[in-house]
Amino acid sequence: MNVLLLGSGGREHALAWKLAQSPLLDRLHAAPGNPGIADHATCHALDATDHAAVVAFCADQAIGLVVIGPEAPLVDGLGDTLRAAGIPVFGPSRAAAQLEGSKGFTKDLCARAGIPTAGYVRCTDRAAADAALAGFALPVVIKADGLAAGKGVVIATSATEAAAALDMMFDGGFGAAGAAVVIEAFLTGEEASLFALTDGVTTVAIGSAQDHKRVGEGDTGPNTGGMGAYSPARVLTPALEARAMAEIILPTVRAMADAGTPYSGVLYAGLMLTESGPQLIEYNARFGDPETQVLMPRIEGDLLPLLLATATGTLADVHPPRLVDDVALTVVLAADGYPGVPARGGAITGLDVAAATGALIFQAGTAEADGQLIAAGGRVLAVTATGASVTAARAMAYAAVDAVGFSTGFCRRDIGWREAARETG
Ligand code: AMP
Ligand code: GLY
Repeated sequence: MNVLLLGSGGREHALAWKLAQSPLLDRLHAAPGNPGIADHATCHALDATDHAAVVAFCADQAIGLVVIGPEAPLVDGLGDTLRAAGIPVFGPSRAAAQLEGSKGFTKDLCARAGIPTAGYVRCTDRAAADAALAGFALPVVIKADGLAAGKGVVIATSATEAAAALDMMFDGGFGAAGAAVVIEAFLTGEEASLFALTDGVTTVAIGSAQDHKRVGEGDTGPNTGGMGAYSPARVLTPALEARAMAEIILPTVRAMADAGTPYSGVLYAGLMLTESGPQLIEYNARFGDPETQVLMPRIEGDLLPLLLATATGTLADVHPPRLVDDVALTVVLAADGYPGVPARGGAITGLDVAAATGALIFQAGTAEADGQLIAAGGRVLAVTATGASVTAARAMAYAAVDAVGFSTGFCRRDIGWREAARETG
């Protein structure tokens, strides 16, 4: 089978690396891809916003499955266009991708289905938001309703901060994403992510992870897309994972089907493990980045049948995913300046030496110029290693990181600190 993978980040490099191992694969195509993805796929300058061009490409290349990596094409309805053209697609419809695209949509669904999540009020104007704020203790969480590149959440510790966040959102600070806001109660606990594949009826867990969202060591400084991650998240014990599946993920899949907008693809649940159990913080309608860079190395066997079965509604007929017990840990190397304006063009060397340590080097914002690999984005590489523990995996990952030459980049040196501290007790 020929597969088209859409996207250009470290997530897509990890997916390409895993898909390329499938005995069922004939040709892997990627668009736009990146130099790392090009090791496993033929990369094309195909514009995912041009739905007709994507459909034509699929017909031309006899594509049997399209795997959509990022959220934007999902929210833009590319899945619907491809399905209408009879092309199997891994990724939800536009209506189902609202689970990521609208925080208010997800909160309302949770309220209807009795899914544990922070108490909330959805507001579309400033006066209503001010009135609603009075009902919340501090800190209070204020979220732009729509996609805001992971930046649409403010945790306000004072009334002044809350007012400033509302001003910013209603004044268009996040564009249309802030035309509506969700105000919600602050939850305390440790965060963990749980990933599940669903075809709308059958749902199977496909691993857990914890990521480090802040740019600075000790989880300080501005939020990023993620500076590192590890899997599994041991804090999400098998018992808690079973609860999260039963109380959060399965009722969501049922509610989406009941609403006539069945969800198909990967459902990525951001959970807060509170004293009273797991609560939903948010959903993503896609794999995580860099979580995929730690999930893929843990999946035993062939990924392609799982993605294809998810896309074609036959997940009940395939073996559920099995994950190795080993821990995988990934360290993101970012360009100086990230998450602000990243330095572009810095040379990257030593990837062969780094890979020879046994680590996997996934590329994200990279490009080739005059035969030299250079930085071309915020997050540039994700260096992944596996081991019997976080401590072991992280020693191996940093050994590989140290073999990379990237003088205009940086990484956090403490990825996995929470879990490593638990391991050493
Ligand atoms: P989100 O984009 O919804 O994942 O929010 C980004 C981050 O804000 C989360 O990863 C949490 O760390 C934090 N956050 C979001 N909602 C809450 C909440 N209700 N209580 C505490 N922290 C939250
Ligand atoms: N690492 C967070 C995300 O993919 O949304």
